[in-house]
Amino acid sequence: MRVVELTKVFAESHTARLLDISSDVSAWQAQHVLFDLPEKWTRSFAVTDAGAIVSYCIISRRNGVLHINQLMVHRDARASGIGTIVLREALRRGAETLKVDPINAGAIRFYQRHGLSNSGTENGYLVMRYRKTAAQAQNTLADEKSHVIVRGVAAETA
Ligand SMILES: CC(C)(COP(=O)(O)OP(=O)(O)OC[C@H]1O[C@@H](n2cnc3c(N)ncnc32)[C@H](O)[C@@H]1OP(=O)(O)O)[C@@H](O)C(=O)NCCC(=O)NCCS
Repeated sequence: MRVVELTKVFAESHTARLLDISSDVSAWQAQHVLFDLPEKWTRSFAVTDAGAIVSYCIISRRNGVLHINQLMVHRDARASGIGTIVLREALRRGAETLKVDPINAGAIRFYQRHGLSNSGTENGYLVMRYRKTAAQAQNTLADEKSHVIVRGVAAETA
């Protein structure tokens, strides 16, 4: 299992597979996958297994926090722990919020088990939020600084 950065170039060349992964539960089409959002192309990632994409997570900055826009595991690969790996990676990257359909009881339980709690509703969706401990918040800050530095160096040397 490998985590790969979901850049715009990656999304453009794998749009069909990304849509296939979400096709049974989401109405997303190519324009939703490729839509530009703040920080989306530096925060999002996919997970591959033996070279095939089995999951992806789209993250962007929304209302000042990093938000999970989409977290999907391919139907053939669900309930085998991949969602747990993906959600932990999203939280490690600083994601704090997501919205879920209130009828999606399985997903809500899954998120609650991983430390997210209900924090209101928005357009009929349940908003869930991850509350970091002080130590986790400190780590995220350190990660964020190194992220900026690494990108700064990359930009300078590009
Ligand atoms: C929700 C989802 C991301 C979890 O990923 P996963 O790889 O199946 O998760 P894991 O194997 O790590 O954990 C399994 C848990 O997820 C829950 N789950 C939620 N929806 C599920 C589904 N459609 N299929 C299987 N498990 C699901 C199960 O209840 C299970 O919990 P349990 O151990 O208490 O039974 C994944 O099932 C999925 O992509 N579902 C469809 C899309 C979706 O609902 N996304 C969330 C919308 S915000």
